[in-house]
Amino acid sequence: TAAPDLAGRRVVVSAGGTREAIDPVRFLGNHSSGKQGYALARTAAARGADVTLVAANVSLPDPAGARVVRVGSAAELAEAMEAERRGADAVVMSAAVADFRPVRSVASKIKKSGAAPGPIELVENPDVLAGLVASRASEAPGQTIVGFAAETDDVVANGRAKLERKGCDLLVVNQVGGGRAFGTEDNQAVVLGADGSVTDIPTGPKDDLADRVWDLVVERLP
Ligand code: PMT
Repeated sequence: TAAPDLAGRRVVVSAGGTREAIDPVRFLGNHSSGKQGYALARTAAARGADVTLVAANVSLPDPAGARVVRVGSAAELAEAMEAERRGADAVVMSAAVADFRPVRSVASKIKKSGAAPGPIELVENPDVLAGLVASRASEAPGQTIVGFAAETDDVVANGRAKLERKGCDLLVVNQVGGGRAFGTEDNQAVVLGADGSVTDIPTGPKDDLADRVWDLVVERLP
């Protein structure tokens, strides 16, 4: 059994991948299965935390001990995270959030007309993680905020730049591509700290990686 080092703490974890509607039957999405986020929720609960899991389009069974809030789009995920982060000691954004959404989502299914289809125009979504950091001082002073990053190249350099851009306390950088991380049972990461720390987490089950991330969060809790 795990040490109850998160007892009396409230944590919020996002998991899965958002879907941005094109029409009632089609969407822009990504390959996140939610396994890494569910592992974070499960391990935090096992360590005694009060856990809220914001799940975007995940088809896994609810993790024991977590309250699950279901969302679809990036806008819904943003709204749920902003509400749930109040009073939480730590927030972990492991969801893969769409950077862009279609400018228009039409109410009726787009039909084949014989003519060439028009382009799908995109607009940028707000950055949920950066928003949580920006509103921390007024909404949740002292909260520890953790981001994840999926990078294909120059993992540490790109991760460091992303950490600085987003302003979170820890960034868990996964190497993706070549069948890694998305949908798999195992994961590996380099965790970069705003304090300059670098922690290597070798390949292993997603629950093990989750436990290592909570170890780093526990060190930072007041
Ligand atoms: O779900 P699995 O199949 O187990 O796969 C796990 C995973 C690979 C999805 C996960 O480990 C992971 O890396 N998640 C983050 C993927 C991602 O979206 O990375 P990013 O580099 O695009 O975003 C960086 C951070 O900003 C993330 O914390 C993301 O949640 C956040 N973000 C991104 C865009 C946006 N509009 N708002 C955000 O909050």
